[in-house]
Amino acid sequence: MNIWPLTAEPALSVAGVRLTEIAERFGTPAYVIDEEHVRVRCREYAKAMAPHEVAYAAKAFWCRAMARWIAEEGLSLDVCSGGELAVARAAGFPGDRILLHGNGKTGHELSAALDYGVGRIVVDSHGEVRQLAALTVGAGTRAARTMGDRAVAAPTPGRQKVLIRVTPGVDAHVHRAVTTGVEDQQFGLSIASGAAADVARLIRRQPALELAGVHCHIGSQITGLDGFETAARRLVAFMAGLGGLPELNLGGGHAVPYRPGEDGLDIAAFAQRITGVVEQECAAHAIPVPRLTIEPGRAIVGGAGITLYRVLTVKHGARTFVVVDGGMSDNPRPALYGSRYHIERAGAPAAGGTEPMTVVGRHCEAGDVLVSGAHLPTGIRPGDLLAMPCTGAYHHAMASNYNHLTRPPVIAVRAGQAWPLIRRETQADMLRRDVG
Ligand SMILES: Cc1ncc(COP(=O)(O)O)c(C=O)c1O
Repeated sequence: MNIWPLTAEPALSVAGVRLTEIAERFGTPAYVIDEEHVRVRCREYAKAMAPHEVAYAAKAFWCRAMARWIAEEGLSLDVCSGGELAVARAAGFPGDRILLHGNGKTGHELSAALDYGVGRIVVDSHGEVRQLAALTVGAGTRAARTMGDRAVAAPTPGRQKVLIRVTPGVDAHVHRAVTTGVEDQQFGLSIASGAAADVARLIRRQPALELAGVHCHIGSQITGLDGFETAARRLVAFMAGLGGLPELNLGGGHAVPYRPGEDGLDIAAFAQRITGVVEQECAAHAIPVPRLTIEPGRAIVGGAGITLYRVLTVKHGARTFVVVDGGMSDNPRPALYGSRYHIERAGAPAAGGTEPMTVVGRHCEAGDVLVSGAHLPTGIRPGDLLAMPCTGAYHHAMASNYNHLTRPPVIAVRAGQAWPLIRRETQADMLRRDVG
């Protein structure tokens, strides 16, 4: 499968703009996002899943422009914090198309969600149900709505729809840090232990809340369909125990290829198999077929991104180390999950051969290795530009200021134009927060 953005000429240009030009205009490191790629992926998902719902998971990459693109393509939205909700709100993303997630929402976040008219809140604990019930008008008073860190005065009309996040006991066989469907972890309520059914009963006793459905998210970067199928069967059986519910949300986690030869999840195959299984199981349990929601993040935006780095130093020894002007502060994924990437020198193909090199960041950690065994031109030297594809998801979103490096800008490209969506952070930005 292609690992470069849809409009890219690998390592040369994207949307008709040369990577060397982007680096010269906006500096490095820089994240580049292909708008067309994002929009095409949205359309592919919407078409494959119709008439069901696709909600983009904002955690993968989020900013106001992205909110506009997603809204225009007709997708719904999954946010997992007040910060993500604030961006959605600033962009005018319709509240009724938003789902709020999180295993530890603050009172302020719940109040902000009610205030903005967020369509569905995915609850994760008994305590959250009680807090939400108290915050919603109908169950409590305006005073009760100030339980969070900030008072919110606007009334919430009608009952608030909620989904229960459940753990279906499914191991998606992905990295431990992104395995979220098994028992005994911090997300969701266990179906097997009866905790999920307890919370369903608690919700149904709250006049201000409406139990609209169930949700699970079994992991990330999943290529196979079996885990989703098992989860779907278990969630339908659970819903049947509650007499059927209108919504079934199977989360995200769809894989994309990061390196040549890797596979992503086949969305058409996913849609066919999972909708089929849900219909079959509902028929077997004699309950109506719910509306399905899926929440891809990485699969919408991962392949749209390229990170550009400049080579700072080349060190020859037992291995050849190519030191670039970024590293684990703009891409923590190799250090966190052992993720593996492809990288190439940007621009015209090298005359002469390539050899294996280790591309490392400039942070004070031996673990700051971006790519081991990268095939780069023998004559690579300081000042050369490197392009790393498939960096649209969980890169800018996970960036930090480690070693007081400033976070790179995000540059959008479309139809021969490049412009910043998020500007480069400056040292002044960092110092402004240093108020002591
Ligand atoms: C609840 C939920 N939905 C959707 C996603 C998106 O996952 P991905 O980007 O792997 O599709 C996540 C990721 O952590 C999640 O926790």
